[in-house]
Amino acid sequence: MTVSSAWDNYARRTPASSQVPPTFSWTNHPGHGPGPELLEAEPGARVLELGCGKGDRLAALAALGLHAVGVDISAVQLAAAAARWGAMVEFNQADALHFLNHTTGTYDAVYSVYGAHWFTDPRVLLPAIRARLRPGGVLVLAHLPPGEGFEGHSPTGSPIKSELVLRWEGEAHQWASLLTDHGFLAPSAFTIHPPRGATTERTAVLRSWA
Ligand SMILES: C[S@@+](CC[C@H](N)C(=O)[O-])C[C@H]1O[C@@H](n2cnc3c(N)ncnc32)[C@H](O)[C@@H]1O
Repeated sequence: MTVSSAWDNYARRTPASSQVPPTFSWTNHPGHGPGPELLEAEPGARVLELGCGKGDRLAALAALGLHAVGVDISAVQLAAAAARWGAMVEFNQADALHFLNHTTGTYDAVYSVYGAHWFTDPRVLLPAIRARLRPGGVLVLAHLPPGEGFEGHSPTGSPIKSELVLRWEGEAHQWASLLTDHGFLAPSAFTIHPPRGATTERTAVLRSWA
């Protein structure tokens, strides 16, 4: 099994959202919590999602007039994404780090929601992101707080961390240090709690500027 086939397996087990049009959220609850305003992106802005999965968040941004670009390592995820949103979103099948290192475009905002940033060494990924963000552009990263709810997210189906797909976990202050170490400015962090009655986990959100 390769990393991409592990994520293909994950993609087959996670159904596409039935929401049309999709509603943006930093959590797994559409429309819950803060929305795309965290990206500070006006219509026409270029926005990149790392590990975009089935592309619902990008479709929501495209509907707001943003130039939405996604990258994901899984062909299965992107086939589903392109089938629904291919007319309005630019999708790229690649490892996020490889994409960042081989594209010439720059972005007004880059984000990842439980996405590629969580599964790539941040000491390598953060400089690659910064190189593609315009000065003043925003980076938003969302993921589970450390130690919470891995089982539902394991791409291999294993209830424990697989050796094939590693997840980079850290407390907010550790992510903030990593961000400043790599030249990002004014990192801030907050937690989104699940909607009332939902049993799912919290979402940690980090925000910083190039
Ligand atoms: C847990 S899923 C989240 C997907 C989506 N962001 C969402 O919230 O529904 C992680 C996604 O990141 C993608 N991914 C993991 N590692 C990646 C990498 N190195 N480069 C690009 N995509 C990656 C997987 O294929 C998968 O679609």
